[in-house]
Amino acid sequence: MPLKKYIRDIQDFPKPGIGFKDITPLLSNPIARQETLDLLLSTVKDKKIDKVIGVESRGFFFGILLAEALNAGFIPVRKPKKLPFETISATYDLEYGTDTLEIHIDAIEKGDRVLIHDDVLATGGTAKAVCELVERLGGEIVQCNFLMELSFLNGREKLGDNEIFAAMTY
Ligand code: PRP
Ligand code: MG
Repeated sequence: MPLKKYIRDIQDFPKPGIGFKDITPLLSNPIARQETLDLLLSTVKDKKIDKVIGVESRGFFFGILLAEALNAGFIPVRKPKKLPFETISATYDLEYGTDTLEIHIDAIEKGDRVLIHDDVLATGGTAKAVCELVERLGGEIVQCNFLMELSFLNGREKLGDNEIFAAMTY
């Protein structure tokens, strides 16, 4: 099934000039959703993943499905001041200004094999910040995977040697 059929293009959202990739048609179709999950799992299912990280907020949807299928822990990486326990944080650049992501200090144990999941790899700033958090806690990044990669934004260049997989590429 061509999965891109379930990604809806919305022009000028959230701001004029931006083309938004809406994943809600994919989420609402159980067959397309399962196919997407199977595709993401195909490259990691034998890699002994201990923890799956889902990046707030759109990385939570498939993050939890991946964790369930891999029998791995699920770890939320969240926007500032959302996590209640002690955290570490990483700040990354946006077009204008910066943003910050946080993780609980006990979310990952040294040597844990970690899969990082988010919906979109765009400029790579978000994923790079998450990689930094995992590394600081001593986790081993096995793969960063995404529903889609916007390859024209060259986000993968920010992720160094980390293995990257995307279910769809634009
Ligand atoms: C979007 C998207 C990715 C990130 C990708 O999240 O869901 O997480 O941007 O962009 P980048 O590669 O340029 O960093 P956003 O911060 O808009 O928040 P949301 O997931 O809560 O909608
Ligand atoms: Mg996001």
